[in-house]
Formats: sequence, structure tokens, C-alpha cells
Amino acid sequence: TPDSWVTRDSRLVRLTGKHPFNAEARIRDLYTAGFITPTNLFFVRNHGAVPKVDFERAEKWELKVHGLCANPTTFTLANLRTRFRVVTLPITLVCAGNRRKEQNVVAKSLGFSWGAGGVSTALFTGVYLADLLEYVRPTKGAKHVVFEGSDDLPNGPYGTSQLLSWARNKSKGMMLAWAMNGLPLEPDHGFPLRLVVPSQIGGRSVKWLARIELSPIESQHHLHFHDNKVLPTTLTAEQARAEKHWWYDPRYLIRELSVNSAIAYPNHDEILDTSLHAPGSTYALRGYAYAGGGRRITRVEITLDEGSSWRLAQITYFEDAFREVEEEDFGVDPIYGVLGTNEQGENCFCWSFWECEATMEELKGAGSIMVRAMDESLAVQPRDMYWNPTGMMNNWWFKVCIHDLG
Ligand code: MTE
Repeated sequence: TPDSWVTRDSRLVRLTGKHPFNAEARIRDLYTAGFITPTNLFFVRNHGAVPKVDFERAEKWELKVHGLCANPTTFTLANLRTRFRVVTLPITLVCAGNRRKEQNVVAKSLGFSWGAGGVSTALFTGVYLADLLEYVRPTKGAKHVVFEGSDDLPNGPYGTSQLLSWARNKSKGMMLAWAMNGLPLEPDHGFPLRLVVPSQIGGRSVKWLARIELSPIESQHHLHFHDNKVLPTTLTAEQARAEKHWWYDPRYLIRELSVNSAIAYPNHDEILDTSLHAPGSTYALRGYAYAGGGRRITRVEITLDEGSSWRLAQITYFEDAFREVEEEDFGVDPIYGVLGTNEQGENCFCWSFWECEATMEELKGAGSIMVRAMDESLAVQPRDMYWNPTGMMNNWWFKVCIHDLG
């Protein structure tokens, strides 16, 4: 395949044939690896072949910034490093298709089946997009910032856009990043330069970033329209494919992530032999939760009776988990956003982990375990699935079934 030169961890589970490469870690591996996902277990979503860039040429990589601005500039990676303040932030990326497998079981959607591993967290190092925009000075009429990657896809390069007012707002944390967990980006993750947009779906974080345009209109890239949409549930996948006009309705565009959570322990294939445990012994149910728009997870609840009654889980935030990690472990100094927030401490860019104890007796008697989370806007995961033609943003209560073998 065109990517045969790229090294990949064999623990990543391929979701789409041989090419392009789309893969996730098993949710157990993801959770066990901890708050900062090791780069080799970080999920990968590629629409085509990985652009090949020589390691030696990385510093000379060019980012062209043009369009409606007073100071259009072509920056090399070396320029970015020296001209702007360098920051490192812990940021969770999530594919809009995370948990799509459950939707595909109900009815086949247009997308492939992600489990609950289409989410990962890394320390990203780079410069603020807001600083770069200040340097190029957007002019009157500029409303959107359009980003373009350098991958060669059948309908042109990958690209999407942000509202200029959001892109200029440093508290939203948008970054041009060249490093991940203290090392240069891996080819699969956008080497040598990518955009990272915290709290929005992963599809907004353009990899192999080559061009930024200040524009009066949103991105016209094919995949800006034909991907990352939640279309009405009334449409079948076939209708959505055939009736193009739905894709151009701006109301259906996905930007911010919605509140979501999943159970890592126990998992679907786990055998919990209750007979091996002393009566009254407990099991720690564990998993992750995240929200979008910089909102923090404010509660996680577990039910063992399909929602008749709930118990509160304990939440671990980035700042709790990070105490044990030294900044120099990642070779980055200093790390800003050590609270898992932006530097101002007001926006949360990071997933959280949760834990809840149940006795073996309780688990033995339960038919299932379900989790739901709530965020700062009091949005809570819904009981029912919102099936949609792209199978995106699936966030109904996450369920693990228990079968009693005894
Ligand atoms: N950027 C380019 N140039 N090409 C792509 O195919 N995929 C997008 C986004 N940026 C993509 C891209 C999608 S849909 C996601 S979810 C994220 O990259 C995935 O980032 P990752 O592979 O580093 O996890």
C-alpha cells in the first residue's frame, strides 16, 4: 500500500481494510495506558495516503497564509518556532464517528464501525493560531479561516474552516502543532505540522497542514461538506447519499463535541467469574468521559438496573492524574494547561476518567451496566440513540451486558 513506509503499533485495530489506515486501540488498552495516550496507541483517521515528508526537511516545511490579510506570509516550521510563543497543552481528540459501531448494528450508516476507542489524549506542542492571525492581520471582510492539508484525495485535499472570531479567541486553544508527547508528530498524525482544535470533533484538526486562507466564506473543500454532518434521522443512508442538498445545510455541520462516556472495565469480552470472589468483595467499574466546547464533565452516573436507579462515580480530572507525571518525562517544558484547561483555566480540553465500586453480588444480579455523563451546561447523555445517516456523535448511554455463566 502507499503507506507501507509508515510504522504502526500492532495493538491498533484496523477498521477499514488495508488502505487508508483507520484504527483504534482496544478500549481496555486505551484506559490502561492512562490519561496521556502513548502516541503509538493514539487513534488514526486518514482519508487517504499519508503524505511522505523527509525528516530532514521538516524545519523547511512551508505553511502559506494568504487571502484577506494585510501581511500574507509563508512560514517555515522553523519560523513558527521562533516567531511565536511555544506552548504545550493536554488535548483530547475525538473522531465524530466514535461509537458508530452501535449505530451500524441498528442500521448500516455511511461510515465504518468505530468502537469506543476513537478518542485519545496527547500533550500537543506548538503555537497559538490566534498569535499567527494577529501577525498576518486579517482585513475587512475576512470571516472564516480555511485550513488545507497536503494529502492527495480523489476530490482534492482535505480541508475545513473555522469562524475567524473563534480562531482569534486564544481561550479556545486552537494550535498549530509540530510535536505530540514531546516528540515530532508521527506521519499518521500530521507530520510535520497540523492544526489542533480542542473541544471540537477531530475532523477539524487538519493534518499535514500546508495552507491557511482568510476568506469571506467557509471552506469549499469537498469533505468540509460531505463529512462531519449529523443529518436528520428521518433520512436513510441511501437518501443521504443521493440527495446532495442535505449536505449543504449549514445547520447540520458538527463543530463542538457532545457529552459522552464509555466503560472500559468490565468490557464486552471480559469474564468476571464471581464465584472466585469472596462474598461482599467489590469490583471497580472504570471508564472515560468527555465533553465539548471547553466544558468540564460535572458528573458520571452508573446504573445496574437499566436506569431505574443510579449511583455516582468518582471523577479523576487531568490535574489529579497529572500529579504523578513529571513534565520532563515528556521532554516539554513548561507545560501550560496543567489543569487540563486552557492557560486561563476556564476551558477544559481534556477527557476525565471515572471509577465506581460495585459488589460482586450486585454485578451478578444485574443484566447490564450502563454509564452516562453530564457536562457544565447540564447536557446529559440521552437514553435513546439518535441514529443518523453518517452514524456520527453517537452518545446514548453506554452499555455493557452481563451474562451469568454460573
Ligand atoms: N487532516 C487531513 N489532512 N486528512 C485527513 O484525512 N482526518 C481528520 C483530521 N484531520 C484528516 C485530517 C479526521 S476525520 C480526524 S478524526 C482527525 O484528523 C484524526 O486525527 P488523528 O489521526 O491524528 O487521530
